[in-house]
Amino acid sequence: MRLDKFVCKSTALTRNEATRAINAGELSVNGSVILDAATQVHENNSVRLNGLMLKARDFRYILLHKPAATICSNVDEVYPSVFNHIDVENPSELHVAGRLDADTTGLVLVTDDGRWSFDIIRPTRRCEKVYRVGLTYPIAEDVALRFKQGIQLQGETQLTLPASLEVISPREVLLTITEGRFHQVKRMFAAVGNRVLSLHRERIGQISLDVAVGQWRYLSADEIGSFE
Ligand code: URA
Repeated sequence: MRLDKFVCKSTALTRNEATRAINAGELSVNGSVILDAATQVHENNSVRLNGLMLKARDFRYILLHKPAATICSNVDEVYPSVFNHIDVENPSELHVAGRLDADTTGLVLVTDDGRWSFDIIRPTRRCEKVYRVGLTYPIAEDVALRFKQGIQLQGETQLTLPASLEVISPREVLLTITEGRFHQVKRMFAAVGNRVLSLHRERIGQISLDVAVGQWRYLSADEIGSFE
């Protein structure tokens, strides 16, 4: 794996901090100072940070079915944190890749691998997120086309990227979007004169929700690799 990834896996450093340490000449591999963050290192190499031997730990990749009235931050606030549902060691090292609002339910991906989560949420990755949406008013006929063409959200300059809408019933739809702007789904429906009553995320990329509400499981190697 790359040296910067190895440093992230073996210390509490973020990727930027790891790069900075590498650029500052603080990393050595098998006795030689390495200044290139992309240098490949192996588990059995002797990697040292300021002389201190590093040992890579395994990252964790988790799927959680988020209940309503929970928040995606690490600490309880007005609502309890989703991390109360995940009984693993050192939960404070984990973060959510693509947060949901407190009242939104469904699929949440949790990890301590910052590079992996960045790959999921960075807008240029165009990772599909599928939401089941309950609406206050029957869906208007032109909404699918308007979402496909892009919507002007209040306070934003860029149209939303093309989104696809599947109508299940007049007040229930499946919406697939490939970005993750603030309150995006609720704002998209507000922009077309409707209102979201319930919001549930069913899928991120190729990973679908398959555990009961409040339950979690580790992702398989295939699922972890599916964002590459
Ligand atoms: N869009 C929203 O408006 N809320 C969410 O929780 C997720 C997407």
